Amino acid sequence: MDWGLANRMARILKPDTGRTVMLAVDHGYFLGPTSGLEEPGGTIAPLLPYADSLMLTRGVLRRTVPPEADVPIVLRVSGGTSILRELSAEGPTVDVEDAIRLNVSAIAMSIFVGAEGERTTLLNLAKAVDLGERHGIPVLAVTAVGKDMVRDARYLSLACRIAAEIGAHMVKTYHCDGFEEVVRSTPVPVVIAGGKKLPERDAIRLAWSAIRDGARGVDMGRNIFQSDCPVGMIRAVRAVVHEGADVEQAHQVYLREKGR
Ligand code: R5P
Repeated sequence: MDWGLANRMARILKPDTGRTVMLAVDHGYFLGPTSGLEEPGGTIAPLLPYADSLMLTRGVLRRTVPPEADVPIVLRVSGGTSILRELSAEGPTVDVEDAIRLNVSAIAMSIFVGAEGERTTLLNLAKAVDLGERHGIPVLAVTAVGKDMVRDARYLSLACRIAAEIGAHMVKTYHCDGFEEVVRSTPVPVVIAGGKKLPERDAIRLAWSAIRDGARGVDMGRNIFQSDCPVGMIRAVRAVVHEGADVEQAHQVYLREKGR
């Protein structure tokens, strides 16, 4: 791995623990003004001190994150679809030159294995990896799952392994029963998405289970910014990811912050 790419990877996977708490706030790219992100600037600001990196689109980045903020950026570079139509028809939305201009630490692109857009999104990932390798920018493959797809270990192992074989430097997927098998068969770091909002303790348990099963961190959005105490939730998740907290200890972190 060349120095620039390794340096950017180390900005995301914190060298002290080899893990990461990525805050995902990119949902608007196909969902529009998602609950909790109607005004992304106000949501992001109090969470910034606790995020190892921020996953978002360039539009929100430019308008809401101060350039002096010391937070690594994972830039979403795929889209072109909305919740109203076929989601798997995504294509590239950002030129790599703009990603470089924005000084990003990684780029993120969704793939839709088993969906109509499978071939196109996989070939788009391959192009993104070529560009990333050329410019020293790691690529996070996002294993997007359509409404009708089963999120089991067999399917997620397939999607994650294909992403890694194409050359993605990290993969984001979902936790599932048998997740350790997904991690074992994916030869690059795996992080999990949080998915739909859960009760806080359940979301903490999800993060804890993923770390137990070998995930290198989380790329979590709704379970943080839709919480009744987003700062409490991100601190609780940090405790799990970086400090080895169990579910109860981390839940106490959330409750203490909420009680302030
Ligand atoms: C999809 O909207 C994005 O890739 C999100 O970044 C991803 O789903 C993680 O966010 P959440 O934890 O809300 O699922």
